Amino acid sequence: MSRKILVTSALPYANGPIHLGHLVEYIQTDIWVRFQRLRGNRCIYVCADDAHGTPIMLKARELGVTPEELIARIGAEHQEDFADFLIEFDNYYSTHSEENRTFAELIYTRLRDAGHITSRVIKQAYDPVENMFLPDRYIKGECPRCGAADQYGDSCESCGATYTPAELKNAISVVSGASPIEKESEHYFFRLQDFSDMLQAWAADGHVQDEVANKLKEWFDGGLREWDISRDAPYFGFRIPDTDDKYFYVWLDAPIGYMASFSNWCQRNGEDFDAWWRPDSDTELYHFIGKDIVYFHALFWPAMLEGAGFRKPTRICAHGFLTVNGQKMSKSRGTFIMGRTYLNHLNPEYLRYYLAAKMGSNVHDLDLSLDDFIQRVNSDLVGKLVNIASRSASFINKRFDGRLADRLEAPELFRAATARGDRIAEAFEGREFSRAVREIMALADDANQYFDERKPWVLAKNPDTLPQAQLVCTQTLNLFRLLMTYLKPVVPRIAEDAETFLRIPPQSWADAGQPLLDHTIGDFKPLATRVEREAVDAMLEESRDTLASKETSAPATGPLVDNPIAEQIEIGDFARVDLRVARIEKAALVDGADKLLQLTLDLGGEQRTVFAGIRSAYDPADLEGKLTVMVANLKPRKMRFGLSEGMVLAAGPGGKDLFILEPHEGAAPGMKVK
Ligand code: 2FM
Ligand code: ZN
Repeated sequence: MSRKILVTSALPYANGPIHLGHLVEYIQTDIWVRFQRLRGNRCIYVCADDAHGTPIMLKARELGVTPEELIARIGAEHQEDFADFLIEFDNYYSTHSEENRTFAELIYTRLRDAGHITSRVIKQAYDPVENMFLPDRYIKGECPRCGAADQYGDSCESCGATYTPAELKNAISVVSGASPIEKESEHYFFRLQDFSDMLQAWAADGHVQDEVANKLKEWFDGGLREWDISRDAPYFGFRIPDTDDKYFYVWLDAPIGYMASFSNWCQRNGEDFDAWWRPDSDTELYHFIGKDIVYFHALFWPAMLEGAGFRKPTRICAHGFLTVNGQKMSKSRGTFIMGRTYLNHLNPEYLRYYLAAKMGSNVHDLDLSLDDFIQRVNSDLVGKLVNIASRSASFINKRFDGRLADRLEAPELFRAATARGDRIAEAFEGREFSRAVREIMALADDANQYFDERKPWVLAKNPDTLPQAQLVCTQTLNLFRLLMTYLKPVVPRIAEDAETFLRIPPQSWADAGQPLLDHTIGDFKPLATRVEREAVDAMLEESRDTLASKETSAPATGPLVDNPIAEQIEIGDFARVDLRVARIEKAALVDGADKLLQLTLDLGGEQRTVFAGIRSAYDPADLEGKLTVMVANLKPRKMRFGLSEGMVLAAGPGGKDLFILEPHEGAAPGMKVK
């Protein structure tokens, strides 16, 4: 009997673009979903933009648009990116939807009526200029322990201390720059501790990975506490029923967004929502998430569902983060790569293949090593798999009119390959994609070896042995077709092109067992071409440019962002950087780039044009005449607005707090900085 499985990926925030770190999750989920469908299961994959919260409200304000306009624009961008990476959602929705409001209110009132919601007055940091309460991330000041400047309101990046915003010294609001005051307000809390027994039993029952179960155990041992689910106006979100100015915290209605998106799909497809969400449902519910949001999905979420009379997840599948070349994605190294930047240079299926080839079911971080990426795609996908088809097809097409033989020369080889199908399926099912890919590639090796041993190019030279060449190529094309079907969840478009070339209907897993004989295939067109290093380099270069012009802003916080201190370099590396004093002759706004200033720099006789992302901190007029420091031997970079011939140095977190370096008077344009 076929299974009914509802699958979700975490909902991306609607305030920034999709980057490669995000894509690990969507690609992992999409492969699993496609595998389920290939096996004949009914698998529905839904997602949405996570549209609420303070950052989105403030970002919209900064851009001078309404939050609704912002989330509509970002939502459309996200969907384009996902589609181009071949992520096939059944529904992509938004948490800012009527369905989500209805479910959030329903779940909240059920929890409240069952006694799981309490309220009390708490004190919080408040911006007296903007008239808003400040989340910890919107307060900065000096660390109370080590004194480091410019630390967030919850923890110090320098010494690792954690504290409350009230403990920060010389705190300021990031929103207005004012000193925050303390203010009281009533908040609503969800009593997570009411579900402690249920959650412990649930977590021990195979719904989470072992590593996650261990983490949960630590939290259980520490005791579960109530969770603050309300925020004060102004807030972009849903108002809490029976209050005037309290809103659901974004994390309350975010997972409910899974239900809302699914419900929207049900309405459009005549499906019975309740059959999937009632406590005794015979359907399965899988949530794919990053390891950083386990708390929300393995504690709050099942507790909310239980308390409101819905089914709980079958399984939470957590994954690790993406590193690039062994390090956290880094803006300065150009490895903070947006999905769109990747797509501008490289084939989406190569990333799908590479990630699948490295991905297991654990929560370890995953490394995209770009050298290894080039090598693997070229040697496995192009060199092994597609190669079977290209070398076999040329004989079948040229010498046999595209006709396959009516029998297999080595049926045992074909049977051995189909027999491995179960193990490959098991690996896909258990999210051990790297194992599945390894098995498939081992079979590709066998097929190539068989081809090499049977030497159809020799057989084809002699009329007596010519028919054997047809048999050999029929055999290898059958193996190719089988392997392509197994790999279809990973590289769906290549698999589809292979079906077109073989002139066969869309294959399912079960079709793989039957050989394709006495059948005419079509012309072979290259199914995949080699990755060129230039394309990878161009992608890195564009990543640097995009971030330099700050046209697209990456999420400002979170585990994927730069290390505070960069990797160590040799003194020789430093010596290669030619730092010079420069006088800012002219500073001008740049049409179409609200973050940039165009600077005309005097290097002591020589003039340079540099585009610098310092508009948020400086008025052009204030800069003219100032001395500053520039990197004079940076390769000129073509930007959308013109050629940038170097880079000026500035310090600070960004926004208004960005300071160009100003050498002492006495320094003169052109002087070397050592
Ligand atoms: O961490 C995040 O990016 C959240 N937007 C994920 C939400 S997942 C679900 F709960 F909505
Ligand atoms: Zn500190």
